[in-house]
Amino acid sequence: MVVQRRSEYARMVPWLRAWGKKILSRTSPDSEHFRYLSHVPQLATWKRYHREEYPTFDSRYELYDYVSRTFLAEIANYYLEFGVFNGDSIRYWSEIQTHTDWRFVGFELSRACLRNGEI
Ligand SMILES: C[S@@+](CC[C@H](N)C(=O)[O-])C[C@H]1O[C@@H](n2cnc3c(N)ncnc32)[C@H](O)[C@@H]1O
Repeated sequence: MVVQRRSEYARMVPWLRAWGKKILSRTSPDSEHFRYLSHVPQLATWKRYHREEYPTFDSRYELYDYVSRTFLAEIANYYLEFGVFNGDSIRYWSEIQTHTDWRFVGFELSRACLRNGEI
């Protein structure tokens, strides 16, 4: 009985794989999200092997804090961001900079990304 189930499963695998590919290619052609997800395991492996050599972070905001604290604490500067999307990063940077001389400039190709002219 178990052997029979396994062989049924084995027969279904190629069909399931083909069906999955077809659905994915029709619903999410050239998806940025899937491309991003495909790199997550590689990044996790890289972090595991290089954690001692380089600082690694669990979120981009931890990285921004580190860069700000370590390299930019005492200087006034310009922050230019090309492709701000909905402004999460540029907003965060503007919040963590205490120096009043900082200037923030963001560029965005798509008007749809800008939430009601907030940024
Ligand atoms: C991954 S999102 C950016 C996320 C954002 N930097 C953040 O940290 O929250 C990439 C953005 O870049 C924009 N973009 C792509 N090419 C661009 C260009 N040549 N000039 C300006 N914006 C561009 C896209 O419209 C998209 O909103």
